[in-house]
Amino acid sequence: ASKPAATTQCVGPNYRTESQKPTATVSTPVDYETVTVLPQTPQLIALLSIIRDKKTDRGDFIFYSNRIIRLLVEEGLNHLPTVERSVTTPVGRPYAGLQFEGKICGVSIMRAGEAMEQGLRDCCRSVRIGKILIQRDEESAQPKLFYDKLPEDIASRWVMLLDPMFATGGSAIMAVEVLKSRGVPEERIVFLNLIASPEGVGNFAKKFPKLRVVTAFIDEGLDEKNYIVPGLGDFGDRYYTM
Ligand code: PRP
Ligand code: URA
Repeated sequence: ASKPAATTQCVGPNYRTESQKPTATVSTPVDYETVTVLPQTPQLIALLSIIRDKKTDRGDFIFYSNRIIRLLVEEGLNHLPTVERSVTTPVGRPYAGLQFEGKICGVSIMRAGEAMEQGLRDCCRSVRIGKILIQRDEESAQPKLFYDKLPEDIASRWVMLLDPMFATGGSAIMAVEVLKSRGVPEERIVFLNLIASPEGVGNFAKKFPKLRVVTAFIDEGLDEKNYIVPGLGDFGDRYYTM
């Protein structure tokens, strides 16, 4: 029997060496300490391949986007502060563990960011959620702020900012300006996002050098309409209406 070629190892977390991976499955490297890209496991790449596929129907798009959102929330929680917590186990042994310190809330950038609220609720029981309605102009891609409703005590909370698409960065920057105007320091904001562009990440990191970003993947760039490429199209349309 013929042996599989040495380049086709397909099993396990190291399913391909870096040089053997198709370019489009390798997140664009960026050099900002505040930006965390999820571990590039075969599971994540398979999930991203489903939601990027234009033939994926709305039901699958929702299901598989939600899977990635859950991974983002789980990673985002690792960026919150903790203090020591010692407990005694039922067999009478001490266990020197940890607990989260400080209150959190979610803030979604409407409409697409609302798709990430349930993932946060699934991990953080009774979490408060605020909303900021920002819409990008279809022609100019400039963001416009329409509305916000945020917890009154947001200045004393850590904020998980939610938006799946991070293209020029204009909408996210506008949302952070709103949060800062309500007294939230940028170092207490964690921005969770599915797909980013290198331009968006760069603009954002230069403007907010202490704000943490957790993303599943940094794509190649933007097209002439400021859509992320290869991207997945319009997330809000695919999740809510198509
Ligand atoms: C999308 C997306 C972001 C924004 C990203 O929202 O959800 O909010 O565009 O682009 P940017 O980084 O260039 O600002 P859109 O305004 O299309 O509204 P939607 O959520 O209703 O789809
Ligand atoms: N908004 C989206 O939904 N997709 C993009 O690629 C850019 C902005």
